[in-house]
Amino acid sequence: MLDFEEIASIDDFQDADRLEVFVEDTPVLLIRAGDQYFAIEDVCTHDGQPLTDGCIEEGAIVCPRHGARFDLQTGKALCMPATKPVRTFVVEVRDRKIFARTN
Ligand code: FES
Repeated sequence: MLDFEEIASIDDFQDADRLEVFVEDTPVLLIRAGDQYFAIEDVCTHDGQPLTDGCIEEGAIVCPRHGARFDLQTGKALCMPATKPVRTFVVEVRDRKIFARTN
């Protein structure tokens, strides 16, 4: 199992609900939803669109290109046209710092 790596601070969010970060050289979208944090690979599995600007609804992110939805916790594709999950990462918060590692 790989170690956690520090990827951001809670203070980095300011008023935003998401940050673009890297985990082990992978582009990752770090999302704040209430007091929970989720980290998913920032690439749609349908056709490679970054999910960066996708709407977040009911625990899922919507790909801005063709509308596939992905569960923030599991990465599961919830509707067409995507059929494969996006990678998700384990997130921990310690002393206002945010850490992640591969799932
Ligand atoms: S690229 Fe995301 S749904 Fe098509």
